[in-house]
Amino acid sequence: MKTTARAHSNIALVKYWGKRDVHLNLPAVGSISITLDRLFTETTVEFEDGLEKDLLLLNGQEASVKETSRIGTFMDLVRQETAVNSFARIESHNNFPTSAGLASSASAFAALSLAATHAAGLNLPPLRLSELARKGSGSAARSIYGGFVEMAKGERADGSDSAAYQLVEKDYWDIRVLILITSEEEKKTGSTDGMTLSRQTSPYYDAWVRSSPADLDEMRHAVINKDFELLGDLSEFSCLKMHALALAGRPGIIYWNSTTLELMNRIRSLREDGLPVYFTIDAGPQVKALCLPEGMDAVKQALADIPGVIRIIETGLGDGARLTGDIEG
Ligand code: PMV
Repeated sequence: MKTTARAHSNIALVKYWGKRDVHLNLPAVGSISITLDRLFTETTVEFEDGLEKDLLLLNGQEASVKETSRIGTFMDLVRQETAVNSFARIESHNNFPTSAGLASSASAFAALSLAATHAAGLNLPPLRLSELARKGSGSAARSIYGGFVEMAKGERADGSDSAAYQLVEKDYWDIRVLILITSEEEKKTGSTDGMTLSRQTSPYYDAWVRSSPADLDEMRHAVINKDFELLGDLSEFSCLKMHALALAGRPGIIYWNSTTLELMNRIRSLREDGLPVYFTIDAGPQVKALCLPEGMDAVKQALADIPGVIRIIETGLGDGARLTGDIEG
């Protein structure tokens, strides 16, 4: 069966940084995210007898050896779970420019998990899909669901309880995000390397892990009570704490550029002027401004003309991973 699935990207409000098991890709901390409507990956998978390896087309072009091998390792996991032994033809499209340095691994592995298992004849419940997606990329576990999502770090050594679940549907609370693109260069330190460096060398690592459950408790509370001030304040806290951890490694990792810093300052001064807006930043230089619908236009106007802002993408909350096409083979 040839199967197509779509999954959206997400942004963490309480960040995941650090692995308790690198091989199984188990997070050292839980995280809470929102799934984004505007950015998604659509992936088609077809298993085919006679192929000598998995073939990957990314945005219409043959993928690099590195990308193909990462996908091949993931597809081996799918084959282990199913009766299918053959390799697959995989075609994947992002509806946003990959060069924009926006995380595409979350939407990519969530879409691939759903398309590949379905193409192999498996109908996995969301929790199992999330656990599988996690093995491709930690943040992908969250993109299985729409709205507000929590990823549990899990306690078991085999990772079977390390998966995400939905906190509330997207319609529960209308939050908007402005994604401010400040660079289109590929980042120098990927998340896995960055996390390893932080664990091995950052003196703040233990404090980061120890303080995580309290952040998660508070964020859950903020979401359930629709407390935007608390949500925003905690998002900035978790984001800056994660970056402090990475900065304090040896060598320290600086993910920001000068526009990133300027945007953080401007967002804080807009807030002093009474606009409800907060920032969060992943392992890269793009800034995500968290807004309420009524404040979004004013925030956009105030940030658009800052030198170094290349582009702004506006988004609301999106749905979870879903099948978008099936053709009987
Ligand atoms: O899913 P990964 O391995 O690319 O890690 C994601 C790390 C952050 O984006 C920085 C934080 C997060 O929780 O998404």
